[in-house]
Amino acid sequence: MSVGIFDSGLGGLTIWDAVTRARPDLAVTYYGDNAHAPYGVRTMDNIHDLTQAAVHDMWDKGCDLVVLACNTASAAALRRMQEAGVPEGKRVLGVFVPLIEALTERNWGDNSPPREVAISQVALFATPATVASRAFQRELAFRAIGVDVEAQACAGVVDAIEDGDMILAEAMVRSHVDALKRKMPTPQAAILGCTHYPIVQDAFQRALGEDVTVFSQADVVAASLNDYLSRRPEMERGGQSRMFTTGDPELVSARATQFLRRPLTFEAA
Ligand code: DGL
Repeated sequence: MSVGIFDSGLGGLTIWDAVTRARPDLAVTYYGDNAHAPYGVRTMDNIHDLTQAAVHDMWDKGCDLVVLACNTASAAALRRMQEAGVPEGKRVLGVFVPLIEALTERNWGDNSPPREVAISQVALFATPATVASRAFQRELAFRAIGVDVEAQACAGVVDAIEDGDMILAEAMVRSHVDALKRKMPTPQAAILGCTHYPIVQDAFQRALGEDVTVFSQADVVAASLNDYLSRRPEMERGGQSRMFTTGDPELVSARATQFLRRPLTFEAA
C-alpha cells in the first residue's frame, strides 16, 4: 500500500520531491487534479467535493494514507472529511500543522497550551481560499501567543505556474510581496502557505529581502511524514510508486519534469 500525496495540480510535487529524496525506498503515489486546478479561487464546498472525490479514488487505488499536499484542500476539506469519518484502515492528513509546529518550535503532537515564540511578525502568502478560511491563524492560535499575521492572497500565481509561465509567476510574486509590505513593512518571517510557491521560492526571497526567514513546507512535511510512519509502520506496506493526473498526462509529465528537473511520467487517473 503506497503512501498517497495529493494536490490540485503540480504544487504537491514540491512535497513529493522532498519525501522521495528523504525516503527513496518508500512507495509513493502522486495524484494531481490538474483538470480542476486551480482550487484557490473555488468555493469551500466545491474544493471539499473535489478533494473528497480524489482522496476516495486514491484510497481505491491502494493508498492507505493520503497526505493533502495542498493547503487549499487542507483548509477546505480536511477537518470536514475527518469529522465525517474515513473508511476502516484509511487515513488523511494535511500540511498546515507541520509548518506551524516548525514556526512555533514544537515537536510533532506537542499539544501543550499556546506560548510566546521568537517570531512576532509573520507574513502569510497563500491562495485566496486559504486566506479566506483563516485556517492558518486558527491553528497558530492553538500553539502561539503574540504573533501578528498579515495574510496576502496571491491570486494568479498558481495559474501562471500551472501554465508554465514562470516570468508571469515571478512578476506576480513581486507585486504580492509589495502589497504585503504596504500592510506589514518589516515581517521577520514569511510562510509560503501554498505548495506551488516553493517553485518560485527564490522570487519570494529576493522580493522580501535576505533578512526575512522564508518557511516552506517541503522538508518540514517530509520530516513529519517520516516521523508519523515510524510510529505507524502499517501505513507503508510496500506497493508501487505511480503518478496520476486528471489532466492531460503528456502535458503534465512535461511540466512536472521541467519543474523538478527529474524525468517524471504521469498516467491518467
Ligand atoms: N498547491 C495548492 C495549495 O497548497 C494550491 C492551489 C490551487 O490549486 O489554487 O494551496
